[in-house]
Amino acid sequence: MSTPAFRLPLIISVCLIAPSAYTAVNFEKDLLPALTKKCVDCHKAPHVENGQKKVPKAGLRLDASWAILKGSENGPVLTPGVPAKSGIYESVTLPKDDDGHMPSKGEDLTKEEITLLKKWIEEGADFGGWVGSVEGMPAGAMTESARPYKPRAHDLFYSALEKDVKPLSDELLAKAKAAGAQVAPVKVDSPLVRVDFLTGVSKCDDAKVAAILPLKENIVQLDLGRTVITDAALKIIGQLPRLIALDLRQTKITDVGIESLIGLKKLESLNLYGTEITDAGLKHLAKLKSLKNLYLWQSKATKPGVKQLTAAIPGLKVSIE
Ligand code: HEC
Repeated sequence: MSTPAFRLPLIISVCLIAPSAYTAVNFEKDLLPALTKKCVDCHKAPHVENGQKKVPKAGLRLDASWAILKGSENGPVLTPGVPAKSGIYESVTLPKDDDGHMPSKGEDLTKEEITLLKKWIEEGADFGGWVGSVEGMPAGAMTESARPYKPRAHDLFYSALEKDVKPLSDELLAKAKAAGAQVAPVKVDSPLVRVDFLTGVSKCDDAKVAAILPLKENIVQLDLGRTVITDAALKIIGQLPRLIALDLRQTKITDVGIESLIGLKKLESLNLYGTEITDAGLKHLAKLKSLKNLYLWQSKATKPGVKQLTAAIPGLKVSIE
């Protein structure tokens, strides 16, 4: 008798004992216990303690994934892929006598915990299924649309996609870096990369996107959320043959520009949260048969428009509210 319920634990145990140089950090298992114990007392939802109203220090909550991604009253505290640009990592590595050292009181993170935090951020800061407290969560800030998309971490999936892809030369990497792009392999030793401009979103314009075109064979994930790109950048993006995940949230792109994306045969995830995209834009997307996740929260698309699109693309999941 071999039902799926019996087979699953077997697969998991095989993965555990398989020799692997690469084990990803599991946020919930490896980091959450330490953060809960050492950080959350001062960084949680507003509450009353001994008759006094307490608000989170620096406006920063560390008790929910959406809240960590939202950041503090001074801005983001987490830049997936870049520990040095992530306040939650920086603050725990500052010298103890520095005012910014965290935790400001109580037990420090151990060396191991700090290393895990660094590795987790480097790997893309994936919260897995962890949401945490939903108190005060803005309507629609579903963690699924908020967290960085991670394509299936499945070796077979990648090895098929990696076929015939050459690793990027140092020269190409240097050029992309000069344009402000951060380029990171999707997994160790893969020629496939994830690209974002998270450390300079306000400077990332169409010209910067044009500068990453020489990397086109290698890019599988591209995050241009909150950048100042226009439809012209979409013409360039439409030429990335292996693009799986594209984040265009809160940009000035329009329905007209969306048409440039219809050649993206591998695209699985598209984030259009907070854009001006309407049902007219969705009509173009109907040609993207590989699409699996579409985020339309706070766009101008309507439910009837979404209904037409999901009828055209079987299996598509759309988040609109
Ligand atoms: C005893 C209370 C306390 C604990 C525990 C604590 N913090 Fe803080 N945290 C603060 C205070 C107070 C500030 C504001 C400091 C300031 O404005 O100079 C702050 C600020 C921060 C900031 C800067 C936010 C910003 O953008 O201004 C980060 C990041 C941070 N804490 C992370 C952490 C982490 C990670 C932990 C656990 C390892 C932690 N904190 C534990 C009190 C605490």
